Amino acid sequence: MTWSLQNLKTAAAAFAVALALAFALALASGPASAQQTAPAPGPEEAIGGAVPGASLGTDSDTDFWREIRRGAGGSAQQPHELGGVLIQSEGETWRSVRNGPLSTYGVWLMAASVAGLALFFALRGRIAIEHGLSGVTIERFKAVERFGHWLTAGTFIVLAITGLNMLYGRYILIPVIGKEAFATITMAGKWLHNWVAFGFMAGLVLIFVMWVAHNIPNRTDLAWLAKGGGLFTKGVHPPSRKFNAGQKIIFWATILGGVSLSLSGWALLDPFTTTMFGKTFAVVNLVGFNLPTDLTLMEEQQFAQVWHTIVSLVMIAIILAHIYIGSIGMQGAFAAMGSGHVDLNWAKEHHGLWVEEEQAKGAVPGGRPQPAE
Ligand code: HEM
Repeated sequence: MTWSLQNLKTAAAAFAVALALAFALALASGPASAQQTAPAPGPEEAIGGAVPGASLGTDSDTDFWREIRRGAGGSAQQPHELGGVLIQSEGETWRSVRNGPLSTYGVWLMAASVAGLALFFALRGRIAIEHGLSGVTIERFKAVERFGHWLTAGTFIVLAITGLNMLYGRYILIPVIGKEAFATITMAGKWLHNWVAFGFMAGLVLIFVMWVAHNIPNRTDLAWLAKGGGLFTKGVHPPSRKFNAGQKIIFWATILGGVSLSLSGWALLDPFTTTMFGKTFAVVNLVGFNLPTDLTLMEEQQFAQVWHTIVSLVMIAIILAHIYIGSIGMQGAFAAMGSGHVDLNWAKEHHGLWVEEEQAKGAVPGGRPQPAE
């Protein structure tokens, strides 16, 4: 009995070794060699019904999982276009960029803008009309121009507040008003943000059409910039036509930033339908960059969100300076967009060449800035 059991064990061991050898030989000569010669699959082939694992499939596991982690989708019964996506590792990167550096640098940028303005105010004070009010006013902006301005400005402010709430509200408001109230406010804010955006786009079109001709850069802008626009020195008033170089910078920042915000906002409003980032990167690569161009729809979405936030934060920082100089920072400026009429001495000091043009048209009384009687 003991002898026969020993024999049985030896025979079983020999059979197992033979089987393992045969299996190893079969693997070496069969599927494995096919795997070495097969071309690397593209994203669709990699995902198109292939089975991961060297024992059964012939695809490269690395390529296969890389595509899955990038968010490549298979087919699924769910009606949503991304229903077949299993994993998208960049989602975690996007989330940490949005909630990390993007939010942090955004706060620093806006704080730097406010601090810079506070410092400017402390050093320079409110820029006064040096020759005092003349008592004579001239028309600076027609009603339609003011309508275009306030449509752009009003909608921008609503978009900025509701947008900032989406980025920072959870940190600032939840501790104060609680989650329920924050959710209600944010839902309403999101709805407003989506719809008010169309008013902003209409405002952009209006001010572009009305003011583009006055905002083409020219040589007087260089002289204006060289003197810092006279902003830092009392008594210095570099000549300027309807808009000075500083205002032209505000105009183009509004138009170009606004268009970029509108396009990336559109991509967020109608998700997974646009491929503008891959296409833009392909153009940018022509001048020596090496940005990824074969973006999945999910990656497109993530770039749209990050870009939308960067542009809006930069615009907010710039527009804060514009609001300052158009209101408390400069005596007599607000009237231009308030009543549409400005004091003649203000106009002569800040837009001397424009006043001369208006005088030539006979629209404005002549002469140098006059102190009030
Ligand atoms: C309460 C907020 C705001 C105030 C008090 C204000 C005030 C003004 C004033 C007084 C002017 C005319 C300056 C002049 O006569 O030369 C002006 C022009 C302009 N504003 Fe505003 N503004 C505000 C918000 C905005 C916003 C949010 C935007 C854009 C998003 C904007 C875009 C412009 C542009 C493009 C111009 C023409 C270029 C320039 O003068 O800089 N404004 N604004």
